[in-house]
Amino acid sequence: MADVVVDFRSDTLTRPSPAMREAMAAAEVGDDVFDEDPTLHELQEHVAGLFGHEAALFAPSGTMANQIALQLAVPRGEELLCDAAAHVVTDEIGAAAALGGVSTRTWPSAAADLDPATVADMIRPDGFVAVPTRAIAVEQTHNRLGGAVIPLATLRSLRTIADEAGVHLHCDGARIWHAHVADGVALSDYGRLFDSLSVCLSKGLGAPVGSLIVGSAANIAAARKLRKRLGGGMRQAGILAAAGLYALRHNIPRLAEDHARAHRLAEALAPHGVVDPARIRTNIVPLDLTGAAVDGPAFAAAAREQGILVSVLGRRLVRLVTHLDQTEDGIDHAVKVLPTLL
Ligand SMILES: Cc1ncc(COP(=O)(O)O)c(C=O)c1O
Repeated sequence: MADVVVDFRSDTLTRPSPAMREAMAAAEVGDDVFDEDPTLHELQEHVAGLFGHEAALFAPSGTMANQIALQLAVPRGEELLCDAAAHVVTDEIGAAAALGGVSTRTWPSAAADLDPATVADMIRPDGFVAVPTRAIAVEQTHNRLGGAVIPLATLRSLRTIADEAGVHLHCDGARIWHAHVADGVALSDYGRLFDSLSVCLSKGLGAPVGSLIVGSAANIAAARKLRKRLGGGMRQAGILAAAGLYALRHNIPRLAEDHARAHRLAEALAPHGVVDPARIRTNIVPLDLTGAAVDGPAFAAAAREQGILVSVLGRRLVRLVTHLDQTEDGIDHAVKVLPTLL
């Protein structure tokens, strides 16, 4: 088996850099269950400020951050609307139902082309047998839709729809940094459109652990209790917060490089009809092998033989993700080799 030259399986595979580790080692810490960790306070205030919200709360994972926000927005037995391929319903092991008693209904998957009217038509008011809609969740960028970016105008329409219906609007912003860099929309402009957001430090920004829930002071106070109930209360987590602060201060603008590399990969593979480069806006490149001579597992195995790791998401669907631990040589190698495997 060839040595690994480049690993495209996920942007969560990054390892903390020496400088990030130094920041972690130097972090001042305290017991965060006592709410006494100064570095965690700094991170939470910094992130709340970035999104123009009152408060933020550190959580061990994006899944926990999403599920806390959703449980606070949707009473048991009531309803969340989201995309059919949203991480909150497809990739969180059924947490909304299993832990929150949240009933979910989905709209046909769409991101850049999401029609707000589709969502508006689905909202159900309270009634004596109805399951009332209490929250809408969107994903920015959209993981399973190839890192697609939902346009600001669409999000603004959803805000209006949510206000008119009195419904909570949540953003799974695991990669909202990528949308900010791709579309040039200020994080605060995104922030003010949502009642709550979850954002991740460990997806493309290079931190080893951590996500935050962002929202009103009252919502975040409730989130702190729920996080403890779920087993997510941490002690000297300032060591992790220091990595997060380092990531936010150093690694956002460079995402443009990951986007350019993803585009380069898409351009190299486009002649084989497996991807449309015009749809690749951020760091995720899905390859649709429906018309190709190889299927997903065979393509991934052949790539592995050449030192290239990719994810198989379905029999005919493979995914490549760019991130800061890849080198220019690794990208060059992939651009040269991957088209020959199709
Ligand atoms: C869009 C999105 N939301 C949430 C998550 C969950 O994050 P975690 O793996 O930290 O629970 C992920 C993970 O990749 C994701 O892609």
